[in-house]
Amino acid sequence: MIIKIIGSSAGGGFPQWNCNGPQSRAVRRGEAAFSRRTQSSIAVSANGTDWALFNASPDIGEQIAATPALQPGTDGPLRASPIKAVLVTNGDIDHIAGLLTLREKQAFSLYGARPVLETLAANPIFDALDAELVARRELSLGRAIELEGPDGALGLTIEPYAVPGKIPLYLEDVGRNPADFMSDEGDAIGLAITDRETSATAHYIPGCAAIDDQLRARLESAELVLFDGTLFTDTEMPDQGLGPKTGKRMGHISISGADGTLAALDGLDIKRRIFVHINNSNPILDERSSERKTVEDAGWAIGFDGMEISL
Ligand code: MLT
Ligand code: MN
Repeated sequence: MIIKIIGSSAGGGFPQWNCNGPQSRAVRRGEAAFSRRTQSSIAVSANGTDWALFNASPDIGEQIAATPALQPGTDGPLRASPIKAVLVTNGDIDHIAGLLTLREKQAFSLYGARPVLETLAANPIFDALDAELVARRELSLGRAIELEGPDGALGLTIEPYAVPGKIPLYLEDVGRNPADFMSDEGDAIGLAITDRETSATAHYIPGCAAIDDQLRARLESAELVLFDGTLFTDTEMPDQGLGPKTGKRMGHISISGADGTLAALDGLDIKRRIFVHINNSNPILDERSSERKTVEDAGWAIGFDGMEISL
């Protein structure tokens, strides 16, 4: 199984178009300690030919342009794409807006849990993805299924599971409105992605508000975990004057702290741990920072655009 991190940033990207914070300025200037990052997505393939995208970011056009494996083959028909399936882990704009870029009458399967499929169905702009060609396939939490493209199975099994998370920002105060906008009913999901032939398994959890015993148990003995690396500290955005919201309010666990990700997953037998969905405020983006060193010393890698993992 090949996993390509095609977008390692959180919503907004790095640099974020309207951000003049010190890190966005530094990457815009081309400082060596910083790398540009596009928004949250990975591509996975069992055979190296057919690909599934996990999340469709607003930067998907740029991501496909940077990734030859996701482009039509040079000897392919006039309309072609190796992207056979797209799975969205929640309804956040950084995870679904790229679907609109895939509207040119190309067949693929579109997977999501019920809340996000309902959101897509309720927004007629997504009808641009012709249902005749882009079959919506609902994921049931806790039920493993084989991913299928229009021409058959992709050799990947996925098991979706609910993680503590938040409803999308644009659905706050409209419609269904859980307490504090938090949800553990599939508004945010994690995925175990397994290569059917080799049984190699990766966990992909780009958005998560908390790590409980159930999630810890699930991740024990994992070969690879790609995990929500949005913030280093809960108050990082207000501290930097970038906005009023804490990580808790945004539904993102922090990397540091007593109940942060480093501490919560410490001691588990996980072979590779990689942070993805990293916000432009996060000091781990600076390769010289002490926070970066803390994270690396704890056995974590910092995902980057173009990072490829073979399992
Ligand atoms: C998030 O991960 O919290 C969202 O992508 C934020 C947003 O929708 O901009
Ligand atoms: Mn996001």
